[in-house]
Parts: sequence; structure tokens; C-alpha cells
Amino acid sequence: MYSRITGTGGYLPDKVLTNHDLEQMVETSDAWIRDRTGIEKRHIAAEGQTTCDLAEHAARRALEAAGRAASDIDLIIVATTTPDRIFPSTACLLQQRLDIHGCAAFDVQAVCTGFVYALGVADKFIRTGTSKCALVIGAETLSRIVDWTDRGTCVLFGDGAGAVILEASEEPGILSTHLHADGSFESLLTVNAGVSQGYDVLQGAGAFIQMKGNEVFKVAVNTLGRIVDETLAANGMKKSDVDWLIPHQANIRIIQATARKLKLPTDHVVITVDQHGNTSAASVPLALDVAVRDGRIKRGEILLMEAFGGGFTWGSALLKY
Ligand code: ACO
Repeated sequence: MYSRITGTGGYLPDKVLTNHDLEQMVETSDAWIRDRTGIEKRHIAAEGQTTCDLAEHAARRALEAAGRAASDIDLIIVATTTPDRIFPSTACLLQQRLDIHGCAAFDVQAVCTGFVYALGVADKFIRTGTSKCALVIGAETLSRIVDWTDRGTCVLFGDGAGAVILEASEEPGILSTHLHADGSFESLLTVNAGVSQGYDVLQGAGAFIQMKGNEVFKVAVNTLGRIVDETLAANGMKKSDVDWLIPHQANIRIIQATARKLKLPTDHVVITVDQHGNTSAASVPLALDVAVRDGRIKRGEILLMEAFGGGFTWGSALLKY
């Protein structure tokens, strides 16, 4: 038994923040941002618009693409670092919106690797026969935890949601997923505030992304290079067997380094970082949805998804679309 993606959906909030807008907010330039990151613009959730709102749009689009009703879903996993509430989970809030009752619903928190983690978990639910039709989402309102006075981070992030319907199938499907973490890197990329540290800490210091960008960059490039090898070896495949790379969209230079490692031409790499910025857990499913809907990715092609993020966490999924 395999799990197979039968529909994809994506959603970006209406409001667009360009590099030129950011020039008015911090000491930066469009040229610097494009040159160092590849980002031109990002979408920002409206006031009051939550992660669950974004997730709901993406979920409904994925359901429509799969030709499924919400009542067919028997598992909901939402990957997010920016949940609407401490509890209930965003997955439970979404379940209520979709008016479905009783199936397992939970959030996964692995920052930018969240969607790959969620996909790996859902794949195992399906392979063991526990689930037949899973809704797997990456959704973020990262703009809520960005320090808009810190030029080193505020130019990078955006909001959005991407979703897939993952169904049981005798044909592959997901071939393998590879999930990793090393918590010893926590200080390089963190939001150093949280419930258990005390509410005053959360309110006083502010809950903002802090990142040693240059150090994160180096570890990300090396780690993603290694996971490409691990993923191909696990499946007895060669680099040339991969039709499409669907990377986490953090920085165009990190994406190019992974593509070079795979010897993949740029036109076989799905790039949305220029338009979306880094949407954390939403970035991989959003990129997948864009390339499925514009007809680039076709049934039967081999896709390699990879991601790296806070934790550090990193992971990959190899699949036949
Ligand atoms: N505009 C202009 N100058 C800037 C800006 C900016 N927005 N940001 C930083 N600079 C300056 C710095 O102050 C520094 O100036 P200095 O030399 O006078 O000290 C100079 O530019 C170079 O800074 P670096 O940090 O060395 O720049 P770098 O080339 O590394 O680019 C970046 C920074 C884009 C953040 C890069 O390091 C990066 O992409 N890192 C990885 C991010 C990532 O992948 N994160 C993981 C996922 S995120 C998650 O999990 C939530």
C-alpha cells in the first residue's frame, strides 16, 4: 500500500509587500534583497486573518482538485509554527470549519520542515492502513512573529498555505520520506518566547524570529546536499531519475546549491521564493501547487521535496506524482 497525492491547493493573502515597500520600513534596498535572497515580494495576512483562515482556503482548493468531499477525509495534519491558538490545534479548528467530526486532527511543529514532516507522518498512517484519505497542510502567518525593525530577517518571510489530499493507492505514490533534527542548533534560529517560559516573557521581550542568517545558510546548504544523497540511495535511484526539485523556498542561493548537487537544470526546479518569500511550512506545498496547476508537473514524474528550518529540522520526500 502506498500513499499518493490526488489533489493540491494553495492560498496567498491579498496584501502584497514588495521590496520597495520594505525600503520605506528599514535600511535595505530592492537590489540587496534580490541579490542575496532572490525575493521580490511576499504576501501578508490581513489584520485578523489567521493561519486557519489561510489553511481553509488551501484545503478547499485541494479537495476540489482531488474531486473529494470534506466528509471523505479521515485524517488532518496541519504543519504550522504560527497556530491561531495555544489550543485547540489549528487542525481541530480547521476540522470544525470543514464540518467533519471524529477523525484524528493534530498539528506538527517543525518550522520550515513542517510540511515534509506532516507528509511523512500521513504517509505512515496510510501505509499502515490507519487512514485512507488525509488532508495534509502547511500554513503560516509568519508575519506575526517577524521583528519588522530587523532588516536581517524582516525581508525574508511571508504568509500563505498549501495543502494536499493524500490517498491510499496500490500504485506509488510516496516512495520514501526522510525526517531529521538536531536540537543543538537551537540558538541559530529561534523565537525565544513561549508558554512555558511564562506569559510575561512572551509579552515583554516580544515573540520574534531571531536568526544568525549566515551560519544557518552554511548548515542548510551542507545538510540539504547530504539529504539528496540519502534519499536517492534509499530508493536505488540516480540524480538523473529526478524530474523536479521542489525545495523549501528560503533563499534562491540555497535552492541553486541543491539543484547543482542534483545536476538539475533550473527549469526543473520549482521556484516561488521570488513571489512568496519564505512561507516556512507552507512553502513546499505552495510551490507544488503552483507547478501542478500551471501544467509543469505531470502525472508519473519523479519529484524530490526537501526542506530545512528551525530546530534545526530537515527532511525530504521522494514521490512519483
Ligand atoms: N538589507 C541590506 N543589508 C543587509 C540586510 C538587508 N535586508 N540584512 C543584512 N544586511 C547586511 C548585514 O548587516 C551585513 O552587513 P555588514 O557586513 O556591514 O555587517 C551584510 O548585509 C551581510 O550580512 P550577512 O548576514 O552575512 O548576509 P548573507 O549574505 O548571509 O545574507 C541572509 C543574509 C539572506 C539572511 C542569508 O544568510 C540566508 O538566507 N540565510 C539562511 C536563511 C534560512 O534558510 N533560514 C532557514 C529557514 S527559516 C525558518 O526555519 C523559520
